[in-house]
Amino acid sequence: MDSAHVESDLVNVLFTEAQILERIGELAEEIERDYAGKELLIVGILRGAVMVMADMARAFTRHVEMDWMAVSSYGSGTKSSGVVRILKDLDTDISGRHVVVVDEIIDTGLTLSWLTSNLSSRSPASVEICTLLRKPEALQMPVDVKYVGWDIPNEFVVGYGLDYRERYRNLRDIGTLAPHVYS
Ligand code: PRP
Repeated sequence: MDSAHVESDLVNVLFTEAQILERIGELAEEIERDYAGKELLIVGILRGAVMVMADMARAFTRHVEMDWMAVSSYGSGTKSSGVVRILKDLDTDISGRHVVVVDEIIDTGLTLSWLTSNLSSRSPASVEICTLLRKPEALQMPVDVKYVGWDIPNEFVVGYGLDYRERYRNLRDIGTLAPHVYS
């Protein structure tokens, strides 16, 4: 689905599919340089990270293993309570492994902060985070993020894996959702 198909639902297009792919290519190149000569496992956080994982894995010019986790926050409301439970754990034993967690957005930082400490307790060789988007103004918990696509304003963004009530994930671009859609 292109932004033209949901034009009236969007305030603007923040990043086009082409811009996203270009940035992901740059991030993959950076990661590839940093992990030269080392085996690498990338871990995608379901469900939003599906698109960025698929494009990033294919942007690598080297072998990379892929695994997935699904997590969910307890509590109600749209934002994380800070308490996270694992819905699907890794299939891989990460002890002694170099791990890069890949997500599409860091909002409050609660999910990734919890996840980093959870993964670190499994004795990996290293754990780093790569996120396509980050909202510095929304951050509640410091997260050490090594690879960031873009910092964005604290607005409701959808597309490229990001949803509003499970819609817009399949939008190729990333756009700001118009208030009339969610108010
Ligand atoms: C998103 C995103 C992160 C989390 C970030 O997932 O993939 O995991 O929110 O938010 P935080 O920094 O405030 O913790 P979401 O809970 O929307 O689930 P989804 O990936 O299935 O859409």
